[in-house]
Amino acid sequence: MMIKTLLATAAVVTLSTAAQAQTIGFSQIGSESGWRAAETTLTRQQAEERGITLQFSDAQQRQENQIAAIRSFIAQGVDAILLAPVVATGWDSVLEEAKEAEIPVVLLDRQVDSSEDLYLTAVGSDLVHEGEVAGQWLVDTVGEDECRVVELQGTTGSSPAIDRKTGFENAIEGHDNIEIVRSQTGDFTRTGGKEVMESFLQAEGGGENICALYAHNDDMAIGAIQAMKEAGVNPGEDVLVVSIDAVPDIFQAMANGDANATVELTPNMAGPAFDALEAYMADGTEPEKFIQTESKLYTQDDNPEAEYEARKDLGY
Ligand code: AHR
Repeated sequence: MMIKTLLATAAVVTLSTAAQAQTIGFSQIGSESGWRAAETTLTRQQAEERGITLQFSDAQQRQENQIAAIRSFIAQGVDAILLAPVVATGWDSVLEEAKEAEIPVVLLDRQVDSSEDLYLTAVGSDLVHEGEVAGQWLVDTVGEDECRVVELQGTTGSSPAIDRKTGFENAIEGHDNIEIVRSQTGDFTRTGGKEVMESFLQAEGGGENICALYAHNDDMAIGAIQAMKEAGVNPGEDVLVVSIDAVPDIFQAMANGDANATVELTPNMAGPAFDALEAYMADGTEPEKFIQTESKLYTQDDNPEAEYEARKDLGY
């Protein structure tokens, strides 16, 4: 009886070990923002905690590097692939190759325009909603006042750049006092945000004609804040600043009065992704096609000092 029980236990242990993913390839976009750095750190931590070997590949913002990394993961025979896709288009062939090799792919934080049956699930926020939350904050804040907005877009062709723009435009639609007067990509980087803001300031009377900045991420907002200060403009007062991510530095800027609002995007996309993969590998449980994370608005009234302290050591 005792031997039977031991054998049965051993069989269960072997089965569940075999069912768990052992090696997972992660094709990361790069390190363009503080948010991205935190996502990488948390993915590594989550993998380590779960005993997963993570094969990490940094694509340095290039889709061709991501495609090459995925092909290399397939050749190595990894158990699953995490993909944070830099742009939304051009993934069909490589996703088909992964499917043919029976390697499940989970998308992290950005979407692709490929057929849903080419990936297991996507973990991310509702990117249009994020833009709507940012836009609604501006609508509520300016009321009936005229407001000329400059917009710093994310990486051209990426789903957050497309959707956050749409969301913001949805929110200000019908509010004729609010108008986007300039819109350009800052590529989700601080340097990009600073450079483009400098040109916006020059074109808009040194900032005189700008009422608000909407940046598709906090890093670009922080670069733009620096540009405004160098130009003698008071960010947060002369020009309202609203952006997306909720990285520690934007809370510091909010605490100093330099930024006004941010919409949170959790960098922990890997936790839900690994949970979905574990269940799928254990007994074939199909996850929802989209695992949605929260989008919470923070303003200067939400104790930004405390939010900074809570986040500052999380790998941003
Ligand atoms: O895809 C998520 C976006 O990518 C983040 O908002 C931005 O900071 C990052 O680079």
